[in-house]
Amino acid sequence: MTWWKDSVVYQIYPRSFMDSNGDGIGDLQGIIQKLDYLKKLGIDIIWLSPVYDSPNDDNGYDIRDYFKIMSEFGTMQDFDQMLDEIHKRDMKLMMDLVVNHTSDEHEWFAQYPDFYYWQDQPNNWKSVFGGPAWEFDDKRNQYYLHIFSKKQPDLNWENPNLREKVYDMMRWWLDKGVDGFRMDVINFISKDSELPDTPDGDGSPYFMNGPRIHEFLHEMNQEVLSNYDCVTVGEMPGAAPGDAQKYTNPDNQELNMIFTFEHMDLDGGSDKWDLKPLNLVDLKENLEKWQHALFNVGWNSLYWNNHDQPRIVSRFGDDQEYRVESAKMLATCLHMMQGTPYIYQGEEVGMTNVAFESIDQYEDIETLNMYQEKKEQGWSHEDIMRSIHVKGRDNARTPMQWNDAANAGFTTGEPWLQVNPNYKAINVKQALEETDSIFYYYQSLISLRKTYDVITNGDFTLIHRDHPDIFAYKRETDQETLTVYCNFSANEYDINQPSGEILIQNYESSHEKLRPWEAVVFYEKKGES
Ligand code: NOJ
Repeated sequence: MTWWKDSVVYQIYPRSFMDSNGDGIGDLQGIIQKLDYLKKLGIDIIWLSPVYDSPNDDNGYDIRDYFKIMSEFGTMQDFDQMLDEIHKRDMKLMMDLVVNHTSDEHEWFAQYPDFYYWQDQPNNWKSVFGGPAWEFDDKRNQYYLHIFSKKQPDLNWENPNLREKVYDMMRWWLDKGVDGFRMDVINFISKDSELPDTPDGDGSPYFMNGPRIHEFLHEMNQEVLSNYDCVTVGEMPGAAPGDAQKYTNPDNQELNMIFTFEHMDLDGGSDKWDLKPLNLVDLKENLEKWQHALFNVGWNSLYWNNHDQPRIVSRFGDDQEYRVESAKMLATCLHMMQGTPYIYQGEEVGMTNVAFESIDQYEDIETLNMYQEKKEQGWSHEDIMRSIHVKGRDNARTPMQWNDAANAGFTTGEPWLQVNPNYKAINVKQALEETDSIFYYYQSLISLRKTYDVITNGDFTLIHRDHPDIFAYKRETDQETLTVYCNFSANEYDINQPSGEILIQNYESSHEKLRPWEAVVFYEKKGES
């Protein structure tokens, strides 16, 4: 079944969503309180970042027990209640599946060492979070591989017993009634068995899209996924459109869709912390490439934000004077393309990046490790902080801004990460009160997707390809045409626009010119003009 093709997904990062018990940490009862809000927005599927028992070295992406709920978030009873309440509202739940690695505190690590990678001599790979990718274990007198933190040892998928354990666990959750999985760095699970040194210590050519990846995903599909009506999305750094065709072509029986990183890498150097302004033509050509590659082959996911990325309105928009216009424009640009759109909590009210002054105000392991590493490399404090303000993952993780009361209504206690000081002006309560808010604009975009088949099924043609500030494209089926104009700048442009019905726009009335950060979508039913 392909219900996920015209669905819209909303990602919840539970630690920062809603705290129901005043301990400063979001929880499952908090999520239950906000389900009516999500229903009002109109989304179909919730993707829940990990809620499993974890020592939280990487906020739950280091799992200690796949069958237990993290105590700060609640109990399995709370989980069952939440799932039930989600289903009662006719929404679905996608769990985060983190099986490239576990926590070093997972019982497997001590009980089944051959579920992991061990070597007497480490290779020269570096960890994604800084430092070497190998850690010495005193008990075993060997090094184990960890592509992420040293508390996230990599699982060895060559071992069929490990694979069987993972499939059992997936079945257990699906039997409970969850509706699918977002799979964490799932294209890292097949490593080149030689684990060779590389000139610069970047091991990614040997663990991204590795030799047995399609075999493993096909096996997972046959053993588990194909027996359920579920949705899957694989997080896949380093996957190119050609890889995505293989992963998402239904004939191959692997996954429904993947998350590409290519469009997220355009404003960075070889290292994401090396800042580079976005060249809009690069973004257009990149997204065009993905739209074309998967058309009638596989399926795209569409996203600007998640818990690892800075806030899009600060990144590709203007989070000051044109915050509202640019947030709506960015939403239009994304939601009118082909694929399943993902909204990250707070995006629907235009939450922005945060610029904490002190490194001590940050919590993210990647940010904290990078700060130390760049200091050692001679970067100035100011330069490092500038990069953190632009790219740090905590930009996305500051608590959800529900209202203008203390701590943005997220908690009655001390929040685990400070709220963004702009919560008095930017919050859900206000967005719900103002009929022309970003929230209601997202609501309209979602409902358009349910009404116009061309949004789900139309082909994609980029227009004004070389324009430095305008992102414009056409979507077309035999019956319908959609033309989308998005101004990624504060300049005004004279652009010849088609006549026709306007489906949605982020300014009140039409105008011959495209105004700052304007978005406008024209619709035509063929044979009716
Ligand atoms: C990708 C997740 O989105 C990120 O938050 C996490 O740190 C790494 N995978 C490791 O699990």
